[in-house]
Amino acid sequence: MKIENNVSLKKHNSFGIDIVAKQFAIFQSINELEEIISYSTCNIQHATLILGGGSNILFTKNFDGIVFKNELKGIEVVKEDAEHIYVKAAAGELWHNVVLYCIKNNYAGIENLSLIPGCVGAAPIQNIGAYGVELKDIFYELQAYHLHDKTIQTFKLTDCNFGYRESIFKNKFKNQFVIVNVILKLNKQPIFHTQYGAIEKELETMKVKELSIQNISQAVINIRSAKLPNPKIIGNAGSFFKNPIVSKFRRYTIWEYHKDVVSYAIDEMNFKLAAAWLIEKCGWKGYRKGDAGCNPLQPLVLVNYGNATGQEIYDLSEQIIQSVKKEFSVVLEREVNII
Ligand code: FAD
Ligand code: EPU
Repeated sequence: MKIENNVSLKKHNSFGIDIVAKQFAIFQSINELEEIISYSTCNIQHATLILGGGSNILFTKNFDGIVFKNELKGIEVVKEDAEHIYVKAAAGELWHNVVLYCIKNNYAGIENLSLIPGCVGAAPIQNIGAYGVELKDIFYELQAYHLHDKTIQTFKLTDCNFGYRESIFKNKFKNQFVIVNVILKLNKQPIFHTQYGAIEKELETMKVKELSIQNISQAVINIRSAKLPNPKIIGNAGSFFKNPIVSKFRRYTIWEYHKDVVSYAIDEMNFKLAAAWLIEKCGWKGYRKGDAGCNPLQPLVLVNYGNATGQEIYDLSEQIIQSVKKEFSVVLEREVNII
């Protein structure tokens, strides 16, 4: 166990923001985490950040506390019944490695979530989602360590309050729990989700004759690689904002002036709008000031071309929010965690 002081987090966040954490420690077991807690000089209750891959965080200033870098490892099958396989993955495993493990073994349900960056422990925090599937659809339970009580607690599906990019860990229990492992409930018989338009088109391009979880995963990988900037080359944290949910009335008033508005009905009264469309319409697509920019292929993704500060990216996000609000009376909400 080693606690380091004044550590740059540049290589620990996918935006590549160069800020300094007062203390930084890696833990590979709960015992190690407890040791770090007892030796740290920081206030664990108020100044703690649990870090996975740093792919959904924007640091806007130095972090005046301790960063726990989670490196808990292990993937195993823990249970099986007639229809399902239960896979337990430690929080420090890369999410995509778990996807590859399941696909290799023909455990279905996770294929649409291929290539999402980051670690398993962060997946429940915002209920990661892509191409018509969310973590909640394959979630069984998780174990989490309570930083105050020092106990390990189990959360079942209904305990997590999962929603669109939401969970209880982002709200009521924010910064209280360290997620230790997640158990996924995968299907023995696949149920394919190809309704997301881009997948069907990509499967056609790939000339796929018979659907399989392997080729759906490959289609998702192809689509993502074509449109999302690789954080190893250009700093980013995926979608910076959520797609806003608005009333039927608000969507109608936008549609009256913009017949090309991109929206999806959520229920009888509400629509989800494509934030990328709103941002593009406000003229931000491809915008760049200094090293902070709005991605030219997918404007929902804000980027760091090199040496932007977190504050510069944040200021750009604020300008975008204000202009979308002025133009469409819709308030964009940030998806990325601002620290
Ligand atoms: P971090 O950024 O390290 O942490 C995110 C939050 O989770 C922080 O609040 C952190 O404190 C908390 N946290 C992390 N680990 C733990 C733990 N063990 N216990 C408690 N709290 C913890 N997201 C999607 O949902 N869908 C996508 O399609 C998608 N595409 C992306 C594409 C790109 C190119 C990028 C860069 C990001 C994308 N994301 C997407 C966002 C991101 O990959 C996910 O949110 C991912 O789950 C973050 O994982 P991480 O380990 O990097 O988390
Ligand atoms: N669009 C435009 N202009 C553009 C790009 C897109 O108008 O330049 C419109 C298109 O009409 C397109 C629509 O926006 O159909 C939606 O775009 P896309 O399919 O790229 O998805 P998204 O809504 O922008 C969401 C998630 C992504 C996830 C994809 C695929 C959110 C906030 N983002 O993006 O998740 O990978 O769908 O399911 O829900 C993330 O959370 O970080 C993330 C990348």
